[in-house]
Amino acid sequence: MEPHPTSHVLPDSCDFTVFGGTGDLALRKLLPALYHRDLEGQLPADYRILGISMSDLDDAGWRDAVLAALTTFVAGEQLLTPVVDRFLARLYHLRLDAQNPADWDRFHALLKERAHPENAVRVFYLAVAPRLFGSICERLDEIGVVDERARVVLEKPIGHDLASAREVNEAVGRVFDESQIFRIDHYLGKESVQNLLVTRFANTFLEPLWNSRWVDHVEITVSETVGVGGRGEYYDNAGALRDMVQNHLLQLLCLVAMEPPTYVGRETVRDEKVKVLQALKPMDATAVDHDTVRGRYDAGLVDGVAVPSYADDLGYSGSRTETFVALKTEVQNWRWAGVPFYLRTGKRMDRRASEIVVVFKEPPHSMFPGAEGVTAPNRLHILVQPDEGMRLHLTAKEPGPGGYRLRPVSLDLSYAAAFDARLPDAYERLLMDVIKGNPTLFMRRDEVEAAWSWTEPILRRWAATPERPKRYPAGTTGPIAAAMLLERDGRTWQEPDQ
Ligand code: BG6
Repeated sequence: MEPHPTSHVLPDSCDFTVFGGTGDLALRKLLPALYHRDLEGQLPADYRILGISMSDLDDAGWRDAVLAALTTFVAGEQLLTPVVDRFLARLYHLRLDAQNPADWDRFHALLKERAHPENAVRVFYLAVAPRLFGSICERLDEIGVVDERARVVLEKPIGHDLASAREVNEAVGRVFDESQIFRIDHYLGKESVQNLLVTRFANTFLEPLWNSRWVDHVEITVSETVGVGGRGEYYDNAGALRDMVQNHLLQLLCLVAMEPPTYVGRETVRDEKVKVLQALKPMDATAVDHDTVRGRYDAGLVDGVAVPSYADDLGYSGSRTETFVALKTEVQNWRWAGVPFYLRTGKRMDRRASEIVVVFKEPPHSMFPGAEGVTAPNRLHILVQPDEGMRLHLTAKEPGPGGYRLRPVSLDLSYAAAFDARLPDAYERLLMDVIKGNPTLFMRRDEVEAAWSWTEPILRRWAATPERPKRYPAGTTGPIAAAMLLERDGRTWQEPDQ
């Protein structure tokens, strides 16, 4: 029997090492998240954050860089001088050239430089290129700092296809037991995503309707206004399918479609998610041609500002990489057979909005003959970001004498208004889970590999066809073909503020 979730406890002492300590992820997300948890008094009393990078910084230099990042990424009212000082005093930097054994010796010495190093939980966060994951783990093993309480955190992408994901998993698995490996998908740390489980399983009204009998289809949209910015090199080798669909969108789909586990435990939720991934309709070449759309942004206007094309962002026009994907799939099991799941994600779209929409079937019979007005099927919108909440669309009678005039109305729940609290960033929850050793919200090896198994045939088919991604002007909802994907089924995408 696995330990009950509440058995995950905060250790007294912890060394949290960030490989890639001066990188964008560390400064924009990880350090601000740790600062927030320090502000809440949740970090272990005896806690150090060790930044590892190739930069020639001493501790003071790194503290300055982190302070600048906090000033940029933490709201002014949350920056309390005594907490900032306490937090900065926990930070140490080490310049490490992975090829230089003397640097690894210095790292070893730094970890041992505490009164009782054997008591400290060691977290190794690999915010570096995935090709380095295996060799860093090997080195950690060689210098003898991996004990049974050590944890390694892997940022996506885990590989670029099934074979390379397996290689990464094998290499890391030679050093760390699966229970010590935390593969981050930051979407699972988002409040609204965790709330999806609560909405479905801590209430009774939805679950009886949550199946092919009552649900017409499901839409999952993650639309971004940003382009590829300074990440062109990574992105052009990845594309939207690897960058977003293989992980974030499939994780959202799993949470929508999964069966209720007996309780929320470290393996139970993940067991259910894997079953969903394994039930996804396989994508053969015909399905890829028929049910997927790739797009690439051209120059356009986003929020009234002129933005360049993908080729200009990249500085190269020969790329075949997609910045937009829309696809149709199905979860082939008893609950969902026949219900289309439409997924869509893109960069440089008309708005930043991530939403899951469950569209219910029309009532089986209309008992308002001659009813005037406009009706629409019931829809539950789960607003993942930016304004987390939920909206349930119903049909109501328009007030007034005379006949029945029907109008769509909505019940709106905004988390910000309902809870009147700052919604923590996804990384805050996830980093605390790592420190406490709770892997429930992290991707298990079989999950990552199941997601790649499903995704890979799409990549292969796209690579084998001469067709290029369809172009769409920046600031729009993507190529027309994405709208056609639903229209040919007699449906339309539910746009975020409908
Ligand atoms: C990352 C992707 O995993 O998620 C980025 O690599 C993307 O391309 C980002 O922009 C989106 O995250 P969020 O939390 O802003 O929706």
